Amino acid sequence: MDRIRIRGGRPLSGSILIGGAKNAALPLMAAGLLTNERLTLSNVPLLADIATMTSLIAQHGVAVEPLDDAGRSLSIGGTIDNTEAPYDIVRKMRASVLVLGPLLARAGEAQVSLPGGCNIGTRPIDLHLKGLEQMGAVIRLEGGYVHATAPRGLHGASILLTMPSVGATENLLMAASLADGRTVIANAAREPEISDLARCLVAMGARIEGIGSDRLTVEGVSRLHGAQHAIVPDRIETGTYACAAAITGGELLLRHAQLEHLGAVARVLAEAGVEVTEQADGLMVRRLNGLHGADAMTEPYPGFPTDMQAQYMALMSVAEGAAMLTETIFENRFMHVPELNRLGARVNVHGASAIVRGVPALSGAPVMASDLRASASLVLAGLAARGETMVSRVYHLDRGYEAMERKLATCGAEIERVEG
Ligand code: UD1
Repeated sequence: MDRIRIRGGRPLSGSILIGGAKNAALPLMAAGLLTNERLTLSNVPLLADIATMTSLIAQHGVAVEPLDDAGRSLSIGGTIDNTEAPYDIVRKMRASVLVLGPLLARAGEAQVSLPGGCNIGTRPIDLHLKGLEQMGAVIRLEGGYVHATAPRGLHGASILLTMPSVGATENLLMAASLADGRTVIANAAREPEISDLARCLVAMGARIEGIGSDRLTVEGVSRLHGAQHAIVPDRIETGTYACAAAITGGELLLRHAQLEHLGAVARVLAEAGVEVTEQADGLMVRRLNGLHGADAMTEPYPGFPTDMQAQYMALMSVAEGAAMLTETIFENRFMHVPELNRLGARVNVHGASAIVRGVPALSGAPVMASDLRASASLVLAGLAARGETMVSRVYHLDRGYEAMERKLATCGAEIERVEG
């Protein structure tokens, strides 16, 4: 298993290209199941999760073909000849559950392994299933699988999500695009990745209103066609590198990054003493004089994203004063705390909140990554720590960050991957 070795203490400077968003790319690839024609996606990030989604879609019989050597453009489309999403793939990547809505809408049936819990919480999919049932699906849970059928097709429905779930909104939006009649999804999640999916569906012939709002209205159509779509830049990768600039006291130009998608992150960073300014080609991020403790609470978009909590905690661990970080989305998302504390941070968890008391400096140590964003937070802490930090289990990092060590090294970090 690969590890990442960092010798901290160097301010970063230079520019980093922000790639396409993983959390947009995965549902967009699932949307490729909705049509026989080719859906072409560009700005695809090169990540382990994209490879997993490629094998999932391919085993449904639908071809996923790279259009360039690197695989930054993919063409997806074909006839579905297998409606099962097997346990072996779903357990590796929860986003696999996003094939449920498209398979059901297009093939009239789906057998999708239940994703189960994961390191950050129990993560149920009841809202996905309830919404599909309202649209006429018959669902039975058996042998660890969701068995869903819609022999006469799906029909429109008025669906109220009790939580603005990202995954449920995406699954229902895709299913509703091919359902008979009008579907209204109220209290829909409105993350930029959902708007990106909705725009791609519209390019494929779907009729969707309310994009970007918490109420999506979909007039189902009988078929969708091929389209071309460029994936939105990754706001979490943007926020992560913004924290890297800030924690090292450096300055980074994040090319292709979009300020409007940062939501509460830009406001919280400003409060902490980090300046984020728009440039022609992206965002310039630099730390002003001192770094101050500033509280953050995770919330659905445009609130502070749960996917930024760990990285922001690393930043706050070296701020002046204290910060309270409250997690409202997942019940077990503080796995990085003991590891940050091994690096000298002073973080105490009380229920759903963590108190971070800033320390003047962190010191390098061997640490272990527990999940994707936790890995990123340990790399950030390592960049600021004195001496050597070795982060193990970086396969988590590879699920969601393309070549992180190379991007950071180009900007002056002393960081390398140790293979094996
Ligand atoms: C969530 C994040 C998303 C992030 C992803 C990976 C939010 C709102 N969503 O998306 O930004 O990229 O994790 O870290 O921050 N829930 C149910 N029943 C369901 C579905 C969800 O109770 O059927 C609950 C979840 O337990 C959670 C909340 O709703 O408390 C939000 O879940 P959801 O948005 O669906 O999670 P993801 O789609 O995984």
